[in-house]
Amino acid sequence: MTVDLTNDHEGKVVRGLEGVVAAETDISYVDGVNGDLYYKGYNIHDIADNTTSYIEVVHLLLHSELPTKKQLSDFRREIVTDMRIPTQVVDMMKIMPPSSHPMDVLRTAVSALAYFDPDTSDNSYEANYRKGIRLIAQIPTLVASLYRIRNGNSILSPDPNINTAANILYMFHGKLPTKLQTRAMDLILLLHADHGLNASTFAARVTASTHADMHAAVTTALGTLKGPLHGGANERVMKMLKEITDVAEVDEYISTMLSQGQRVMGFGHRVYKKEDPRTAHLREMSEELCSKRGNQKLYEISHSIEEHVFKVKGIYPNVDFYSATVQHALGIPEEFYTTIFAASRISGWVAHILDQYENNRLIRPTSKYTGKFNREFLPISER
Ligand code: CMC
Repeated sequence: MTVDLTNDHEGKVVRGLEGVVAAETDISYVDGVNGDLYYKGYNIHDIADNTTSYIEVVHLLLHSELPTKKQLSDFRREIVTDMRIPTQVVDMMKIMPPSSHPMDVLRTAVSALAYFDPDTSDNSYEANYRKGIRLIAQIPTLVASLYRIRNGNSILSPDPNINTAANILYMFHGKLPTKLQTRAMDLILLLHADHGLNASTFAARVTASTHADMHAAVTTALGTLKGPLHGGANERVMKMLKEITDVAEVDEYISTMLSQGQRVMGFGHRVYKKEDPRTAHLREMSEELCSKRGNQKLYEISHSIEEHVFKVKGIYPNVDFYSATVQHALGIPEEFYTTIFAASRISGWVAHILDQYENNRLIRPTSKYTGKFNREFLPISER
């Protein structure tokens, strides 16, 4: 029997799908050539410098417009009202092994939220919007609750009078954050909210394209975000920083890493050919927080790594690099850094999942087969 290989051989394999255009979106645009990022047409620098909180960005991503004062306060109330999580999910997090990674527990907990969501099996736009808002509201609560469970503390209910950023810090540490701390958390959340067709967003869209439900798509995204080449990089950045005790050690440490073919976490990017525009905001915040906390050395080590990696490899830090020191200064332990990333990126995921449902076609690429054909089949008794 002859096998027609025409289809399998026609397509050129694009490793890592680099440069492949797989969706149309007006949610965000990563301009890799100029080192710019846009959310719904707004430059990220304008957003970082001028928005009053991350909630404004969530409104922009889901409703395509920046909110008026009234819309913002209504929208904030809508989100804060949904921040509570079912006690069954809290109990479930309590029985997870203490050694389990917070991203793994978060992934399982988000999957479990589907059992308690009144709209799980309703795939209408309205139901998906409601589920999206609930997930944007609930993920920060899950993350902070897990932190308190891990530390043997009782979990705290969200405070309806403060915004998401302040609530995360309040529910972590049990006291109201300062203005600067709230601003720093807001900055982290709004800078991580969306980023084109990054790996976890693409994964979420693939799941949504099968008409699976919102919780399934977000669970997929969480599994993808965890990897160290994506959202898991921030945790590795802090592990590296902890191994370097002085600026004088930086050159040798980094040179050794690179000579062993290792990657410096928090550096490099698939799309940006210039500096990631989010880095400047986090670098500045990191410097301010480190100096206020008397930990200037950590900032100096980070800055020296940045200079050395650029000198040797010509690559720039990405969003994960200074997000690590900012989170450290906010008292977040490193194993929770990626969960904070998730607590922000959920807004982008929801916007993309809604978009995918509205303009859906099953995402189903093809592969180039490199195996054999028509091998002689031996019955098990003859092998
Ligand atoms: N350290 C050392 N070398 C690097 C790094 C790095 N962090 N990033 C890229 N390179 C080198 C790589 O070795 C390769 O060199 P050569 O051509 O000599 O072999 C070249 O740059 C191109 O690398 P690539 O792997 O083909 O690039 P990519 O587009 O597939 O990878 C990346 C992008 C982000 C996975 C990669 O830069 C990386 O591994 N960075 C470290 C992990 C990290 O910080 N991830 C966060 C990404 S941004 C935020 C997010 O999405 O979470």
